[in-house]
Amino acid sequence: MTTQRTASLTLDGKTTEFPVLSGTIGPEVIDIRTLYGKTNTFTFDPGFMSTAACKSSITYIDGDKGELLYRGYPIEQLAEHCNFLETCYLLKNGELPNQDQYDDWEKRVKNHTMVHEQLTRFFQGFRRDAHPMAVLVGVVGALSAFYHDSLDINNPQHRLVAAIRLIAKLPTIVAMTYKYSMGEPFMYPRNNLDYSANFMHMMFGTPCEEYKPNPVLVKALDRILILHADHEQNASTSTVRLSGSSGANPFACIAAGIACLWGPAHGGANEACLKMLEEIGDVSRVGEYIKRSKDKNDSFKLMGFGHRVYKNFDPRAKLMRETCHDVLNELGLHDDRLFKLALALEKIALEDEYFVEKKLYPNVDFYSGIVQRALGIPVPLFTGIFALARTIGWIAQWHEMIGDPEQKIGRPRQLYTGAAPRTVTPLAKRP
Ligand code: SDX
Repeated sequence: MTTQRTASLTLDGKTTEFPVLSGTIGPEVIDIRTLYGKTNTFTFDPGFMSTAACKSSITYIDGDKGELLYRGYPIEQLAEHCNFLETCYLLKNGELPNQDQYDDWEKRVKNHTMVHEQLTRFFQGFRRDAHPMAVLVGVVGALSAFYHDSLDINNPQHRLVAAIRLIAKLPTIVAMTYKYSMGEPFMYPRNNLDYSANFMHMMFGTPCEEYKPNPVLVKALDRILILHADHEQNASTSTVRLSGSSGANPFACIAAGIACLWGPAHGGANEACLKMLEEIGDVSRVGEYIKRSKDKNDSFKLMGFGHRVYKNFDPRAKLMRETCHDVLNELGLHDDRLFKLALALEKIALEDEYFVEKKLYPNVDFYSGIVQRALGIPVPLFTGIFALARTIGWIAQWHEMIGDPEQKIGRPRQLYTGAAPRTVTPLAKRP
């Protein structure tokens, strides 16, 4: 019989033992759920640098090796052999579908690609130049108004329908956000097209003529969606889990995830990275910006570089760089100045001792902006594409959290540093 391994904590001469739990692969955890009850103390871990918030079987990241697995499959193999809808099935259900399962899954998603016709009126309330992420937070959150009362989150069938609705409708809503900003008519989904081809049709098609998506560009977009689909307990996924732990409906939880993803330190980095490359403008100025990124008195950071977990190449960045190359070649943009600038910036940064010592490598956002720009996606919509892709990850993680018998409402504590108890002086008597 294997003995339970424990970790000892000694505080004021009293030693307390805590169980050590192991997963399939990766770091073990010290189960400190009884810490407060036994020692009347909390752990302190702002930013959760050393904290596992849950058990999960969905995605695994090895930051030192630069490895990313979805349900045990390396991201490189999924990007090579699967499409995004197949990857959605894998993340949600834990196994890759066979042909019958895939056909049924695709049919179910296609049955939900349209949005309620009244939802189109939400867009009219936004300025045409509103940031797409502001629109997405609002419109996706508004889905709760259409489905909230038909959703029992403890009913597996209801949870499945909610998941399929979100996977199916996000492309339609993101495309509508773009069309609204352009003053062009919304395009209805075409269910005779595959998932990413349909998205390109809704984005770039018009009622005036037949739109024929370029298969090379469609495959590139599909790969971009695969690369962004899930990523363990990142900030926006943790936001979705925390929102869901109160019993909030999945549409509201996904809207919360979109809001968190918007930040430039997270999903907003692709937009910020492209703006940074535009500002640098020329290889001759790279040194100036590398210098600024190392200056503690300068808030500038090299966008698209660094990662909380990866202390090696983000495997998605390598795949994105390849995709970038394929798209630029297909479009005859071999000499795209921003791509050449990004390659030069990457080379210079990776040879700089500051970046080497702090293990700062390109992350998924470094090249994604360049390839999306080449696909014709406007810069402010880059993070919207990230949100479209990450919806399946958020849903899979939300689903896992709801189904976890150990899950409780998330409610962290604090180290209180405010005023000690004191007495109120009535207003008339205050000096
Ligand atoms: C995503 O978590 C996920 O999985 C996220 C994501 C996903 O798929 O969900 O992978 C998507 O969000 C990718 C990250 C995109 N963000 C950026 O590219 C923004 C630029 N990167 C940095 O803001 C930063 O690297 C973070 C936010 C990504 C990570 O921050 P951490 O883990 O809190 O690390 P840190 O800021 O403490 O950095 C450690 C050191 C610091 O120096 P010291 O204080 O130790 O002296 O490295 C420095 C930082 O100043 N540093 C950088 C830097 N990133 C970190 N210095 C210059 N340029 C950078 N980009």
